[in-house]
Amino acid sequence: MSPDALANGIESETINALLGRRSIRKYADTPVTDAHVDAILGAALRAPTSSNVQAYSVVVVRDQDRKERISVPCGNQKHIVSCPVFLAFLADLTRIESAFQRNGHTIDNNNLEMGLVATIDAALVGMSAYIAAESLGIQGVMIGAVRNDPEKIAEILELPQRTYAVFGMCLGFPDEAPKQKPRMPVNGIVHHETYDPAASLSTIDPYNADLRQHYESIGKQTTVDSWSDEVDAKFAAKARAGLRAALKARGFDFI
Ligand SMILES: Cc1cc2nc3c(=O)[nH]c(=O)nc-3n(C[C@H](O)[C@H](O)[C@H](O)COP(=O)(O)O)c2cc1C
Repeated sequence: MSPDALANGIESETINALLGRRSIRKYADTPVTDAHVDAILGAALRAPTSSNVQAYSVVVVRDQDRKERISVPCGNQKHIVSCPVFLAFLADLTRIESAFQRNGHTIDNNNLEMGLVATIDAALVGMSAYIAAESLGIQGVMIGAVRNDPEKIAEILELPQRTYAVFGMCLGFPDEAPKQKPRMPVNGIVHHETYDPAASLSTIDPYNADLRQHYESIGKQTTVDSWSDEVDAKFAAKARAGLRAALKARGFDFI
């Protein structure tokens, strides 16, 4: 069963927008105004935040040269250069550090929980911004590649210590309507009352076939076990192996 089928005919503007969502990497010339960005971020900053810590910041980037510099450590992704607006969603412990200092405490050797709190907060603001943008017809794609080289991104955005870019987001009015990428069968993803491991793993073979068919339909090369092979190729060799040390250097103790 697909996510659409799970929605079971129950409709709302938000449900329909989410069911129709796909990442957009080509943008029209239609300007995304400062007023658009302000409205998007105003709405996004009402996202829930762990213990009201608000451990996030957002950097709005429009400057062409800066977007080009950001794209380099991100594997030269073209959409970072071509999007009208790039947003960087930061985990930000600076204000918490200040609160600690006022009370004679230190945030040095902070723990995994602090890093997770800030990272989850930033992600919630990011997804809220994405949905708010979509409601204005503005779409885009998130950019996790900012974590390829956290120090380089920090240098380009002049980020202080105790912050890091969790992910970026290219936004613009769409100039493409790509086919939606299928999702795994929901019966292995959504569990009722207790987790069903067999159901979870039963999604893989049908999804490999579905994704393979999707890639073939858009002329993208793939393998028989499309999803399994993609995930293995991307992550088995310890993706971003230097990330823990890089984030430690930026003041996050993910240990
Ligand atoms: C946190 C995060 C980071 C991502 N990073 C990138 C990225 O660096 N480049 C890119 O082209 N897409 C990126 N994506 C988009 C995913 O590849 C995309 O969401 C996924 O393949 C599913 O496709 P869909 O969004 O069209 O449904 C990212 C998505 C998320 C949620």
